[in-house]
Amino acid sequence: MGATRKIDIFDTTLRDGEQSPGASMNTEEKLVIARQLLRLNVDIIEAGFPISSPGDFESVRRISELAGYDACVAALTRAVEKDIVVAADALKYAKRPRIHTGIGVSESHMRDKLHLTPDETVERGVAAVKCAKRYVDDVQFYAEDAGRSDYDFLARMIQAVVDAGATVVNIPDTTGYSLPEEFGRRIKHLMDNVRGIEDVTIAVHCHNDLGMATALALAGVANGARQIECTVNGLGERAGNTAMEEVVMAIRMHEQELDAHTDINTREFTKASRLVSTITGMNVQANKAIVGANAFAHSSGIHQDGVLKRRDTYEIIDPADVGAGESRIVLTARSGHAALKHRLEELGYSFDAEKLDELYEAFLNLADKKKEVYDEDLESLVNERDREDGALYALESVQVSCGSPLKPTATLTVRDPEGQLVTACEWGTGPVDAVYKAVDSIVRVDNDLTEFSVQSVTRGIDALGEVTVRVKAADGEMHTGRGADGDIIVSSAKAYLNALNRLMAGKR
Ligand code: KIV
Ligand code: ZN
Repeated sequence: MGATRKIDIFDTTLRDGEQSPGASMNTEEKLVIARQLLRLNVDIIEAGFPISSPGDFESVRRISELAGYDACVAALTRAVEKDIVVAADALKYAKRPRIHTGIGVSESHMRDKLHLTPDETVERGVAAVKCAKRYVDDVQFYAEDAGRSDYDFLARMIQAVVDAGATVVNIPDTTGYSLPEEFGRRIKHLMDNVRGIEDVTIAVHCHNDLGMATALALAGVANGARQIECTVNGLGERAGNTAMEEVVMAIRMHEQELDAHTDINTREFTKASRLVSTITGMNVQANKAIVGANAFAHSSGIHQDGVLKRRDTYEIIDPADVGAGESRIVLTARSGHAALKHRLEELGYSFDAEKLDELYEAFLNLADKKKEVYDEDLESLVNERDREDGALYALESVQVSCGSPLKPTATLTVRDPEGQLVTACEWGTGPVDAVYKAVDSIVRVDNDLTEFSVQSVTRGIDALGEVTVRVKAADGEMHTGRGADGDIIVSSAKAYLNALNRLMAGKR
């Protein structure tokens, strides 16, 4: 396998990403993210648009100091002298400064936004590059809305700015309009028609309006681009930009076909994603590629069985490679025996086939009521089975009616030590009191209930509730009982019966 082209990763989370509605950040927050970008080992950090606000100016200045020689720091400008002067000032302390200047090149941008002819647009672009060159060596030119521009005019514009000294030419699909193949052809057209293009870097900057920002960037790379502009979590104007984690992992998976690699430390992706999401308040969808909560979670029985036999049956990326820990087997009503057995073993339990079948049935009952069965639920299930094994009195059913202004009433059926079903109906001060009175009328054993507490086993409204009770026997000895169920009235009945069973077992 031959050496592949190095693709520069230009992160614009702090500039285009910040243009996401509701995602604005203050300077301190931008510095926190910039530190994480350095840990990711990005090549270029676009730190802001200095003329746009004093805050942006300050962010560019402080990130310039922070980055040192570790990353190039870019500042955005329009093709306007004042913007360029201010950007140069903000970049004063950068060891590797880059001015990112440019102008709209599509027919509609020139005619309706800029009111310029194509000739005037080229003139402005060239003047901006020449102006920026007075302050820094590294000047990147963006041809805004290149994705909808005329092929030959774009080549003319790029030729002019390359001749003027641009070191990087950025070809944005500003509106996310292009199809990947067509965008690739556009890059190839520049590779074939701009003199000296081999001495500059072509960058691609793609938006996700049709959900293709990653595919567009890859098409650019396949046709000669050597820099990708992207953001953490795909943050950015409207539907966002190419997501760094996606495009970098796609390149890593297909290095030879694309003749490309990056120097990104992919193990920092999960941390970067969470940090950006926390700071901006922009949640990451659960099924987001690479960094979504479900990116490495397996829920269906068939998939779980496959992954447990060999991870890559259903996973192309080792979650550890993106800092996401391990694959997650999500226990739900669709999980099979294999997944349950595996998780129980990880929790330290091992059961024979018969016991496992019993537990699987109890698990399915619970999973039908809950979206996801957590480890704590499994522990509770196992303990519940242990409590039921060999119990003198076992709960068969319980029903209560309560509320205001009803009188709380419980109807309870228990299997007694002779295997007979016995039913009692009682009322009390509340539903639990009514249930306990019904238990007392069947299990006639002297005791004092001294403690009663309910705790949620896991999170969420559908969590199991675990009830703990303590009863004092006539001889003064204390006995504890526990019961767990999705319904806390059932948990309460089970807990009390468990305590009484233990009291009677002690007596015997
Ligand atoms: O989308 C775009 O065209 C941009 C440029 C300023 C690079 O963000
Ligand atoms: Zn953009």
